[in-house]
Amino acid sequence: MNNLFKSLVLCIVVVSIKASMPVTVYYEALCGDSVHFITRQLYPNYQFVKDKITLDFVPYGKALHTYNSTTDHYTFTCQHGKEECLGNKYQACGLAQIDNPDTKLEFVVCVMSAYNPGKLEYVKACAERYQVDYHKLVSCALSREGDKLLAAHGDRTQELEPNLYFVPTLVLNNSIVINSDDQDESRQDFMGFLCTRLPHKPDICNDNTSLFKKVKNFLF
Ligand SMILES: *[C@@H]1O[C@H](CO)[C@@H](O)[C@H](O)[C@H]1NC(C)=O
Ligand SMILES: *[C@@H]1O[C@H](CO)[C@@H](O)[C@H](O)[C@H]1NC(C)=O
Ligand SMILES: *[C@@H]1O[C@H](CO)[C@@H](O)[C@H](O)[C@H]1NC(C)=O
Repeated sequence: MNNLFKSLVLCIVVVSIKASMPVTVYYEALCGDSVHFITRQLYPNYQFVKDKITLDFVPYGKALHTYNSTTDHYTFTCQHGKEECLGNKYQACGLAQIDNPDTKLEFVVCVMSAYNPGKLEYVKACAERYQVDYHKLVSCALSREGDKLLAAHGDRTQELEPNLYFVPTLVLNNSIVINSDDQDESRQDFMGFLCTRLPHKPDICNDNTSLFKKVKNFLF
């Protein structure tokens, strides 16, 4: 490869990274609002905006964790009980195995649409569907590896300012600040939210037919 070609390729890569807005989704496994947002807003709209955003899933929500350095042991308390901590670990461990951003979303959608995202039998079906090594996922979730992944999601969640007050919460551009004005809109009209916030807007934002349809659906 000659140098000019190399620098061209590098340039294209840099531009496309710059154009992709990080969208961080703070959510938890057994939360109806998280299920609703991920399956009804995020997933159906993703196809229109996948070139413009980079999703980042943080399964933890309103949980707490402590680390005891004497015993080298983590303790978690989750909003909807122990099963939710497990559910969050299953997703943390599954996500850690997946590289492709579309597959990450599909895996999360699969688990979150399941009857119980905190039960292994449902997670297993999703793991198999998206080529996640199920045995690796289970051994991760039931070991220190899962503890560490979940604690890391917890540290990121607890870094938010102000403290997480609603689950799910969406934050753009790797900010640690929760913009309270963004929250209701981002959950209820994810596409409309992105159209007003993204510097590089997807085509659908300029499509008046779909905007018309949206207004019509709203009115009638
Ligand atoms: C850590 O664990 C040890 C042994 O169980 C216990 O004595 C100690 O109180 C724990 N420390 C904290 C901060 O909980
Ligand atoms: C995103 O964050 C970067 C670094 O903090 C900042 O320079 C940039 O202006 C932000 N972009 C938007 C669209 O807010
Ligand atoms: C859509 O509406 C915008 C704002 O009203 C206008 O600038 C644009 O030309 C319209 N596009 C089409 C294709 O009609």
